[in-house]
Amino acid sequence: MSADDQKRVAGEAAAALIEDGMTVGLGSGSTAALFVEALAARKPRIRGVATSEATASLARRLGIEVLDLDAVDHIDLTVDGADQIGPRLAMIKGGGAALLREKLVWEASRRCVAIADHSKLEGALGRFPLPIEVVAFGHRSTARRIGDALKACGIAAPPVLREKSGAPVVTDGGNLIYDAACGEIPDPVALGLALKRLTGVVEHGLFLGLAERALVATPTGVDTLWP
Ligand code: A5P
Repeated sequence: MSADDQKRVAGEAAAALIEDGMTVGLGSGSTAALFVEALAARKPRIRGVATSEATASLARRLGIEVLDLDAVDHIDLTVDGADQIGPRLAMIKGGGAALLREKLVWEASRRCVAIADHSKLEGALGRFPLPIEVVAFGHRSTARRIGDALKACGIAAPPVLREKSGAPVVTDGGNLIYDAACGEIPDPVALGLALKRLTGVVEHGLFLGLAERALVATPTGVDTLWP
């Protein structure tokens, strides 16, 4: 199976978990998009809460009702991709710049299932550069403070402003993204806390203790991983 086929199979496996009547968190990125397609093909009676504008328009185009997070009192199950899956299903997300809405939806969900192809599995967390969402005002000053926080956590990686076609990437929330090529993160919990303490930081891409399971596609099938 090619990587794209693996993503599709993981998306289909997650779609099989969805039951009529559920409120479903709809993740962002290429794997989550395949989940949304597989879900729409099953024509379930569900309501979706999207983690990005891109996912909201895809889901609506495919006939899925999409509600705002504030319009639902809970989310039964969220299915979303990941950029890296480490030990105990600690993850890095935000490669698609949707980390803030993703984390808001994940945290509002009773269960979260990550879907990925097996290239996302890695021993220690940090191979994928850590996305950090910051407010635009004073972002270079915030980036310097992020650099100091990283250093204090044993990481010598200057954060780099994410750009596309020569312009900063702007998130759905109007913020900017810095990426830090951390290498192995010695203590992800401590790093997450240190970043959240910085005023200009809106959110970071460490998703710790949130996933119920991961459906990881390999060349031969789908493995279910538990924390
Ligand atoms: C979006 O911001 C991310 O968190 C995605 O979930 C993640 O980048 C996975 O995307 P792919 O499925 O496209 O690899």
